[in-house]
Amino acid sequence: MSDLSSYEAKIRAAASPAELDVLELDVFSRKHGALTLALKDLATLPAAEKVKKGQELNHWKTVLTDALTERRRTFTAQSVGTLASEDKLDVTLELPPRPRGHLHLIPEFIRQVDDVFARMGFQFVDGPEVESEKYNFNDLNIPEHHPARDSQDTFWLMGNEGETDPAKRFVLRTHTSGVQIRYASTHKPPFRIIYHGKTYRKDSDATHSPMFHQFEGMMVGKDVSLANLKAVLVTAMRELIGRDVEFRFRTGFFPFVEPGLEMDMMWQGDESESREGKWLEMGGCGMVHPNVLKNCGIDPDEWQGFAFGFGVERPLMIKHQIPDLRSFYHGDLRFLRQF
Ligand code: DAH
Repeated sequence: MSDLSSYEAKIRAAASPAELDVLELDVFSRKHGALTLALKDLATLPAAEKVKKGQELNHWKTVLTDALTERRRTFTAQSVGTLASEDKLDVTLELPPRPRGHLHLIPEFIRQVDDVFARMGFQFVDGPEVESEKYNFNDLNIPEHHPARDSQDTFWLMGNEGETDPAKRFVLRTHTSGVQIRYASTHKPPFRIIYHGKTYRKDSDATHSPMFHQFEGMMVGKDVSLANLKAVLVTAMRELIGRDVEFRFRTGFFPFVEPGLEMDMMWQGDESESREGKWLEMGGCGMVHPNVLKNCGIDPDEWQGFAFGFGVERPLMIKHQIPDLRSFYHGDLRFLRQF
């Protein structure tokens, strides 16, 4: 039995949990544990010795089990104790805020446009930035010698030389209006569509840039009216720019609408200054010209509709009081982070 008694001291002196595991096996392993073997030996003893020896082995079983449990407990207590002091997690610690990116003002606004018009039943459609002369000008009823077609205003692509078919002569689109032709000539009314994207003109000053964005819409039906147009635009603009924005409609001329209107918005802020000259043009709109409907294969005696086209940058300038449109494109983070 000296054999088993020596384990008690070893267990109490074990230096690590791993050492304790080995000792546990030495005593209790089903195959070679010292206690297991001793219990097996019991069977070979004469009856008189069996009882005495049995009691003795039971005593050691209890003593060694207790010793193991106790030693384990000290190891656990030690590790928890050091965990608390060495690996502290202070959940109240304030960390510096992580820099987070966000959408640029322009795509953010365009998403809002989609959202507002989708709620009014408009379907989003798309068109290319390189557009044919036919879709950008001809089918929109823009006359052959209209100044907008001039190379002073329009970026004509190379490769148009000698080509006379307007469907095969290309420009960087000067407006998004070509998309209405693309859609209307391939779909039957009634429909409501909204489209947007980059447009290009040879302009550059505080309120013009050679590349800018437009959003545009068209609604064609049996009895779509100018009143519907105004209601749609006023609702959308209030939602996009703000409830208290002031706007006005003026007559305007665009070859693809009749009658044509222009929508202006009042420059916000600077209360003390005169309001004169502070109307900023947002874009054009009107009732789709019968020639445009005809060009799209739609009978103007049966169908009528409105269209509108707005800049994206202008309303944003008003909303955020940005004096120079070119700030949108400089990529200056100090500007972009303000929004
Ligand atoms: N395309 C015109 C422009 O760029 C804007 C415009 C005016 C679009 C009237 C329309 C419209 O759809 O009906 O200045």
